[in-house]
Amino acid sequence: MPGFNPRVSRIRESPTRRIDEIREELSRIGRDIILLSTGQPSIPPPRYAREKLARDLFEESMDLYSYTPTRGISTVREAVVADLEEDGLELGEGDLALTAGGQSALFAALSALFQEGDEVIVFDPMYFGYWPLLDYLGLRARVIPEDIEAGFQPDLSVVNEALKPGFTKGIILVTPDNPTGRVVEESVARGLAEIAVDNDLWLIVDEAYRTLVYEGRHSYIYNYAPDNVVALGAFSKDPGIPGWRLGYAYGPREAVRRISLVVQETVYCPPSVAQRLVKYYLESGEKRAHREAVRRVYKTRRDAAIQAVERYIPGARYARPQGGMFLFVDLSPAYPNLDSEELARRLLREKSVAVVPGVYFSRRYTSSLRVSFVSEAVERIAEGIRRIGELLDESRRGSPR
Ligand SMILES: Cc1ncc(COP(=O)(O)O)c(C=O)c1O
Repeated sequence: MPGFNPRVSRIRESPTRRIDEIREELSRIGRDIILLSTGQPSIPPPRYAREKLARDLFEESMDLYSYTPTRGISTVREAVVADLEEDGLELGEGDLALTAGGQSALFAALSALFQEGDEVIVFDPMYFGYWPLLDYLGLRARVIPEDIEAGFQPDLSVVNEALKPGFTKGIILVTPDNPTGRVVEESVARGLAEIAVDNDLWLIVDEAYRTLVYEGRHSYIYNYAPDNVVALGAFSKDPGIPGWRLGYAYGPREAVRRISLVVQETVYCPPSVAQRLVKYYLESGEKRAHREAVRRVYKTRRDAAIQAVERYIPGARYARPQGGMFLFVDLSPAYPNLDSEELARRLLREKSVAVVPGVYFSRRYTSSLRVSFVSEAVERIAEGIRRIGELLDESRRGSPR
């Protein structure tokens, strides 16, 4: 066989994809799996928007089926900007382009802003989706640990100390965070913006969960550093259309132009059907009520997850997630040398519970699990966490597998 591009060998299969495969396999043989692994929303977009789109499908017009501009249909882009501005963003001279999902925005932004060998500051724990991209693009990660006791807020003095003039070219921040649910405090947001400006860095802010905040408030860091911040978003979590692939990037005009060039050469244009649905959603009077209802449901489930951890996994540590879809459970106080990958595998096979091993997100909190609280109802979340506690207990007592 002829050879392959070694650059692609740096990309590994996504860990959640692998868990999904085993889960599907077990579901096919009739096993009822409690799904605490994915950030897959469980509430569809509002009916009004879906009905409107359904009517469009029966029109004898090519509109819905055509290529769209690479940056997205202008009226949809305007609706997205208006939605962000309603929430506090001041886009000013900046620009926004739609992408084919959040993942496409991450790839295009990292490709457009950095070059091989550049050093980029990242925080640990970090969404695992960044690692393959950093490796693929030959970027060096300077990993800064976040402390569970500090609610995973980045420590600005540590960021300042980590900067290497001439080498450090950017900072990647996810807020609200995956996997910790941490929402960056206003003072930290301002501090990071200041560091980016003072040191001429790109600050990439991943805002995929920006509408899912249960306590506190999401800060639009772009407002503090409009020449340095490139922010990324997705419609996968709100209105909940992950399979329809629509996301966006906004920031300085020239940065967005270059990001769009990468989108042009990878997917040509974002999906037209998703753009149409999102426009209906954002322009409908139901958006606000829908978001509030979704937040209410997820917050109740988050609280149920926390209660179950308190009850069934004594000794576990966590920082209450203020946003997002996940509870990051550190098991190290009670189980210091836990192999979280092995634990997740056993949970799936022996207890029919799917979770994501913490080691995929953190080099620091390796004895940990990421528990999603959005895909299952309250009772099943509690039952899933009870089974996690049960397996941990069995393992401690050395019961046979
Ligand atoms: C923090 C974060 N950024 C980006 C993405 C990718 O978004 P999308 O699913 O739209 O590709 C995800 C997906 O889960 C995420 O958690």
